[in-house]
Amino acid sequence: MMEKDRRTALASLAGIGLLVAGCAKNDADGAKKSEGDEDAVTANEDLMREHGVLRRILVIYREVAPKLVANPGAVDAAALAAATTLFQTFGERYHEQMLEEQHIFPIVRKAGGEAAGLVDALLAQHARGREITAYILDRTKSGRIGTGDARALAQTLTAFARMYEPHAAREDTIVFPAFKKAVGAKGYDDLGDQFEDIERRTFGGDGFDIAIDKVADIERRLGLADLNAFTAPAVT
Ligand SMILES: [Fe+2]
Ligand SMILES: [Fe+2]
Repeated sequence: MMEKDRRTALASLAGIGLLVAGCAKNDADGAKKSEGDEDAVTANEDLMREHGVLRRILVIYREVAPKLVANPGAVDAAALAAATTLFQTFGERYHEQMLEEQHIFPIVRKAGGEAAGLVDALLAQHARGREITAYILDRTKSGRIGTGDARALAQTLTAFARMYEPHAAREDTIVFPAFKKAVGAKGYDDLGDQFEDIERRTFGGDGFDIAIDKVADIERRLGLADLNAFTAPAVT
């Protein structure tokens, strides 16, 4: 009841903001979208843009892997460790554990269907990912990557990216839509609010914005900041 009251109070405040802003939209959905006049995202949009941050780390892993094999001394180990730490805090401890494992997966599993059939594999991949994350942090903690570790580390980075790309893609296209359908419009709005609260409590601000700043900085440190550099060569 207390949580419901709190949400009602928040919705009322948001409603006042809506009037002040002079916006004519006055349905229940409009109240949520007026909150702070920024970052009003739905639950699935929130989850999917978090995947965007994680994908940028997967790109880092894929780009660093061949460089590690060619010349491990030339790879900025601290920057790689920062990428992995971001994956751990934003991806594993927040996105996976607080949102997917506590909220999304139980709802989807109960609803049944194709998405429910994916949950065991998704959980196994979360667990394997955490093992790999611990391994990468261990191998990079000295600030340099030893020649003896470079090849195995490169293979592990590539294997992690190979695992997480289909993982996130299945969640985006099957699991999250099933979650949205299972909870209905009201439940979906309420959970969207709840996710935003969890994000602010966890990171002391907008976790997405903080993560984007961090990943952009890591990309700069690793020479991966220029999007043009990823344009495929012309077909000959
Ligand atoms: Fe996941
Ligand atoms: Fe996910």
